[in-house]
Amino acid sequence: MTAKQSKKRRWVKMIAILGAIGVLYFLVIAVYILKNPQTKWDWEKVDLSEIDFSGDFVWGVAAAAHQVEGNNTNNQWYLWETAKDEKGNPRILNGQKAGLACDHWNRYSEDIQLMKDIGVTAYRFSIEWSRIEPKEGVFDTLAINHYLQVCDSLLYHGIEPMITLHHFSNPIWFEKKGAFEKAENVDDFIEFVEYVYPIFSDKVKNWCTINEPSVYVVDGYFNGINPPGISDPKLAGTVLRNILEAHIRAYHLIKSLPGGADAMVGLVKNMTYIDPYNPLNLGDWILSSYANRAFNESTLRFLETGKFNFVMPSMVKIKEENPLAIGSTDFIGLNYYSHYTLKFGFDLDNAFENRPLAHEIPTDMEYSQYPEGFYRAAKRVAKLGVPVIVTENGIADASDQYRDLFIRRYLYALSRAKKEGVDIRGYYYWSLMDNFEWSSGYDMKFGLYENDFQTQERKLRDGAKAFREIIEKCGNVGMW
Ligand code: BGC
Repeated sequence: MTAKQSKKRRWVKMIAILGAIGVLYFLVIAVYILKNPQTKWDWEKVDLSEIDFSGDFVWGVAAAAHQVEGNNTNNQWYLWETAKDEKGNPRILNGQKAGLACDHWNRYSEDIQLMKDIGVTAYRFSIEWSRIEPKEGVFDTLAINHYLQVCDSLLYHGIEPMITLHHFSNPIWFEKKGAFEKAENVDDFIEFVEYVYPIFSDKVKNWCTINEPSVYVVDGYFNGINPPGISDPKLAGTVLRNILEAHIRAYHLIKSLPGGADAMVGLVKNMTYIDPYNPLNLGDWILSSYANRAFNESTLRFLETGKFNFVMPSMVKIKEENPLAIGSTDFIGLNYYSHYTLKFGFDLDNAFENRPLAHEIPTDMEYSQYPEGFYRAAKRVAKLGVPVIVTENGIADASDQYRDLFIRRYLYALSRAKKEGVDIRGYYYWSLMDNFEWSSGYDMKFGLYENDFQTQERKLRDGAKAFREIIEKCGNVGMW
């Protein structure tokens, strides 16, 4: 063989190897795409009048104690709002504090009227643990009576209460003990549940145990924007496991108490799909699929198989089992807002930063609108084999330019999942009125009603009328 021939051969070999690597690369990507379809519809061709929720469907609105009540000064959020970070900057945007919030504690009667005006017959709200148990083992009957009155008033007006037992806020005494960082502290939450459930059980049939375990964990222990402001993936995994144990134990406890067998008790899961920024980039796929497994699948598979796997390479690996997790939810509460798209880079500090896709319509939050994800999320959580109740969905849109379209497109996506067989029983809009949006303070306007925080005057937004119109058109069965 001449030197020329062998050089040619080497080239051919190299091209063949590169070609094979290329084929393999795209095969792997094809597998990722097939396993995680990035649903995308041509909205020009979608007929939004096809939204259909006929049947036994219930419409509601949702809120959480610390975000609306006002004067919650005995929980960890109160401390956080006055704290400063290492650089001396306030923790909440522009140093805002929840303060009086919407004064819903005193104005709940008027707010119930607003619910009626929009046509909903269900209200999901949290009862504030730090008010009910201000000191460890000491329960406040005045606080309990307040929430009993709220339930009575709701029922009187034909609105079904749904109670959330834990929505991000912890009593200060519990936080100081290390909250859900320590497995033994789950007992404290269970004692709280054991105390309150029998008091409310004849008025309240629908219960959410824990609101969004993954969000509590990611914001508090991974990116550190919420209290306790820690960034420690291993601890994040431990807290997720412990808070899910709290759910499992709360579920089985309620089921064992009088009336519990007839109650509907469920976990609320935030489904934020973590998608690759560029579906042709393998790095983006690997990064996003690990994040997706940690954020979404770890919880869902725990409920499905009893196996808790929380793994992020070189960061954390927790593998445990608890067969009691299987089936520990009578319904799955689905909170859906949007997806995140991640771009691979070697700078791990910024690896998990969301990069919204340019073609998607924005919201005022860091994510854009992705209605198709609602359809995907409903289909995924339905695999648990229990009814789906949408416990939150809404948009932050101060200008109100996108709210109408948001409501129609998102409800279209949900109704498409329902039409294709997902057992969706109800939908709670987030939120009745503008409120304290955690680390973003009052800048994010999620309300159907705009709230003037000086005068506490609430005004229905134009864009919110789409919600009322859809409820009227589809019908509302009332209470379950
Ligand atoms: C939380 C709410 C929050 C909403 C809008 C959900 O993650 O449960 O408390 O206000 O999203 O961001």
